[in-house]
Parts: sequence; C-alpha cells; structure tokens
Amino acid sequence: MKLNQAQIQSALICGQALVFDEIDSTNEYLLKHHQELENGSVCLAEMQTAGRGRRGRTWYSPESKNLYFSILWHYPTSDAANLPPLSLVISLIIAESLTAEKVEDIQIKWPNDIYYHGKKMGGILIETQATRSGLDLVIGIGLNLGMAKVDETVVTQAWSDLSQYQFDRNKLVCRLAFELQKNLKIYPLVGFSHYAERWQAFDIFRNKPVKLITEANEIHGISQGINEKGELILKKGENIQYFGIGEISLRAD
Ligand code: ATP
Ligand code: BTN
Repeated sequence: MKLNQAQIQSALICGQALVFDEIDSTNEYLLKHHQELENGSVCLAEMQTAGRGRRGRTWYSPESKNLYFSILWHYPTSDAANLPPLSLVISLIIAESLTAEKVEDIQIKWPNDIYYHGKKMGGILIETQATRSGLDLVIGIGLNLGMAKVDETVVTQAWSDLSQYQFDRNKLVCRLAFELQKNLKIYPLVGFSHYAERWQAFDIFRNKPVKLITEANEIHGISQGINEKGELILKKGENIQYFGIGEISLRAD
C-alpha cells in the first residue's frame, strides 16, 4: 500500500503532510522549504535518490516497503543545552512505539541507530537551520520495514528489516509522527532527564566492551550506558570518562 497523504495528515498534531513518490532527500526538502512550511510539517517519500546519513554517508533508500520521513520542528534556542541528546529521545520514542506494536528485540545504539536482532534497521539524522527566532530542526528517520536486498557497496555493515511483521506503513507512520510530535512539544519543558532511564532499557551496549572512534583516535572501554545529559559513560579500569554526542562512532570491541 502506498503512503496516503490524507491519512497521515489526520494523525498530525500540527503541520502539513507532504508525500512524494520520489525525492532527493526528505531532510533536504524540509531544509530548503523550512521558511514557508508550518511547524511540525512531515515530508515522506516512497524512495530517495540522495538519502543521507551522518557525515556525508549514504542512506540506501530504494522503492520498497521502507519508511523515509522527516519532521520540521522549531526549537527555542533558549533551551540549547538540551539539544544534543534529542536524537536519543527520537530513537527512544521509535523503539517504544515499535515495541508497543509487538516488535521484539529492538535496541538502540548511541547516538542515532535503531537495531533489530542485533543489526541496523533504522537511523536518525538531525540537521539544523538558524532562523530569526531560534532554530529549525529537521529530524530525518529511515526505517527498514521491508527491503529484500541492499547494494552492498552502500550498506557496508550488517542490516535487518521488519518484513516479518508486515506493517501497514500508513498506520505505523501515523503512530510514529503523532508520538514524535507529542514528545517534541514537551521536550523543551521536561528536558532529557525525563527520558534517560527509559533509554537505558534499549541500550545495545550496556556493560559491553566498546570502542569509540573519534577523528583523532580510538578509545576502548566498557560502556556504562548514558548519564542525565545523554553522554556516553565509558569505564576504563577505575577511570570513568563521559562523551557528548558529536563526531563519534561507537562500535563493539
Ligand atoms: P555511526 O553513526 O555510529 O558512525 P554508522 O556506521 O551506522 O554509525 P551512519 O552515518 O549512522 O553510520 O549510517 C550510515 C551507514 O548506514 C552507511 O554507511 C551504511 O553502511 C548504513 N546504511 C545505509 N543505508 C542503510 C539502510 N537502509 N539500512 C541499514 N543500514 C544502512
Ligand atoms: C544514519 O543512520 O546515519 C541516519 C540515517 C537517516 C536516514 C533518513 S531517511 C529520511 C531522512 N532523509 C535523509 O536523507 N536521511 C534521513
């Protein structure tokens, strides 16, 4: 079943639902049009020709049963301190919504990946545009609901999809968009501490040996989950270090 604009529109708390058969990137569309669109607008596409991940990586986005969508959200700059861990809130809401839909074995990898059966099933990319009254966020989400095969030159790591659940994509994206908008509304009021404990329940690396890959080096240790600021807690012998979300990749060690 194709994405249904009217059905998705009816689930939104605010903004417009914009549905495309093909687009370069749903994030790119909202970044280009953020000034003329209402807050909360959701851009969705059946396929993306230039879907992207973090740091210029490609998000493989064939026409399939997958979901590719982005939400435009105006964020008050007065609350800038709470912005970095927002991707953790988004992944948590998606993990909780999928679990409520009876999907088993969903996990989150700090800071922006969603795993199913230990393999990457979805990702989140948040991009920003400064405006006169604050920041416009574009929150992009890709979820492999049903994808038979990938181009292995693009998807260079283990991946999974939720094809066994045969989701009605429209119903699922309605639920996700509604839950995400609801939480985006309250987030500046409640802050990340409201979500930190819930996030830990989905953490793929809790108490596991990991390596953190930064621009400069690799740091090995045991992951202790996250703190109230969404920072990763890494234990090395008796030494504890905290890492903020940035240009860091986390891997099993
Ligand atoms: P990190 O964010 O920790 O650096 P990452 O390697 O997962 O980890 P991202 O930028 O988050 O990097 O995601 C992009 C990567 O995801 C691509 O390099 C590719 O290997 C993989 N990928 C691309 N498309 C898909 C897809 N549809 N499903 C699963 N994985 C994908
Ligand atoms: C990642 O894991 O690096 C994040 C992937 C984010 C992919 C989504 S698909 C919808 C939106 N449009 C994009 O170009 N990227 C995001």
